Amino acid sequence: MLTRENWGSKIGFILAATGSAVGLGNLWKFPYITWHNNGGAFVLIYLVSVVIIGWPIMMAEILLGRHTSESPVPAFEKAGGKGWSIVGWLGVFTGFVILGYYSVIAGWTITSFISCAKWSFSGYVAPASGAFGDFMADGSLQIFLSFLFIAATAIIIWRGIKEGIEKVTKILMPILFVILVYLVMMVLFLPGRNAAFAFLFSPNFGELPWEGVLEAVGHAFFTLSLGMGVMITYGSYMRKEESIAGNAALVVFLDTFVAICACIIMYTIIFTAPGVKESVSGSTVGMLFITLPNLLYTEVPFGTIIAPIFYILVAFAALSSTISLLEVIVSLFIDKLGMTRHAATFIGAAASFIVAIFSALSLGALSFLSNFSFFGKGKEGVLSTLDHLAANWLLPVGGLFITLFVGWRFDKKICENEIALFGPDGNTTLTYKLFRFFLKFTAPIAILAVILAVIIMGKDFS
Ligand code: PFF
Repeated sequence: MLTRENWGSKIGFILAATGSAVGLGNLWKFPYITWHNNGGAFVLIYLVSVVIIGWPIMMAEILLGRHTSESPVPAFEKAGGKGWSIVGWLGVFTGFVILGYYSVIAGWTITSFISCAKWSFSGYVAPASGAFGDFMADGSLQIFLSFLFIAATAIIIWRGIKEGIEKVTKILMPILFVILVYLVMMVLFLPGRNAAFAFLFSPNFGELPWEGVLEAVGHAFFTLSLGMGVMITYGSYMRKEESIAGNAALVVFLDTFVAICACIIMYTIIFTAPGVKESVSGSTVGMLFITLPNLLYTEVPFGTIIAPIFYILVAFAALSSTISLLEVIVSLFIDKLGMTRHAATFIGAAASFIVAIFSALSLGALSFLSNFSFFGKGKEGVLSTLDHLAANWLLPVGGLFITLFVGWRFDKKICENEIALFGPDGNTTLTYKLFRFFLKFTAPIAILAVILAVIIMGKDFS
């Protein structure tokens, strides 16, 4: 048997895992849900959620992957027997579902970048009011864009762990952070800065709808790439001498940092432009792809420089996330079906592309796909349905099983030794005890609350 490939450097895991975590969830979803949940209090609850739910589950996933040196299906099989491997299969299925719509939205970053580059050279021309709708309804363009995204992802995965994922994320992630910090510094000169900070950091619990609490928990899964085995897979390439707790904490911190920076950038611009606060487009799509480009060109000094750079940032962030989604699928095909990496990549990418075609055509091109409704009103269309399925069902359920398995079923001693947080007296440290407590109690209870709210009250956290 071949020995398993490892990350080539200490930073390999951190960059790839941060690359997976940081994506459209941070730059597209988080600013939108924070806006709709009225800022401050939601942000605080979200920060608590990532610490007491996100961090322990991320550790649990990494430890399972590293201990077994396997991708999700064989990892669960080895550690818990055949029955538990269903959780691994669920994760792979979730990978197809998310990649099948995420790649379509990721494709929009390409056109946004091209439009901004054009405007920066030859002057901004505000698009007609229905222009974005027409763009979404252009089926062949939507298919082409998602194809470009999946193809770029496949080319990287094809090259393997060190030569593909690690090399690319080592270049992309530092660029992404430099661009992000540059953008934050630019907007700090705008007059809307104080209002944006007040909105984000002065909690007023009276303004937080109660579902906002559960929405924060649900979003923690999506944004940290938890509940479908990405961190099991990436953890399986991690060396034994590395600290799981430290690596997980750093990834959680960096992901949160990006999400907060994205809010600072967007809200400062929104609060700077007169009248925009009231009319921010009422959809997630609207804020990132319609309102923001317009504001960048009309309100922001140096907007002509910032705008194209910003959309490169979003595209890179999305790419490092699609890489992780495809890698979960590919590593299963390699580990379980004995395929070569190349064959696994080709088949995984082709299958994801088929799902993406349905999503791409559900944005107005084919009415029966646009009207397709599995979850009832408000969730029309294949793309929204897949998002709903992943965010409300698949990720929380996957996450619940991971907490139950590692917290209650997995060998306690192995868990202690993998995490290796021992004090000088040889006992586990307080940090370890907190991790165990969060994993065994806080996380499953919070996830159950999310699942019950979806089932019983028909709530939607996608
Ligand atoms: N974490 C990514 C984001 O925030 O955009 C999305 C994602 C990637 C979700 C990988 C789940 C996943 F397994």
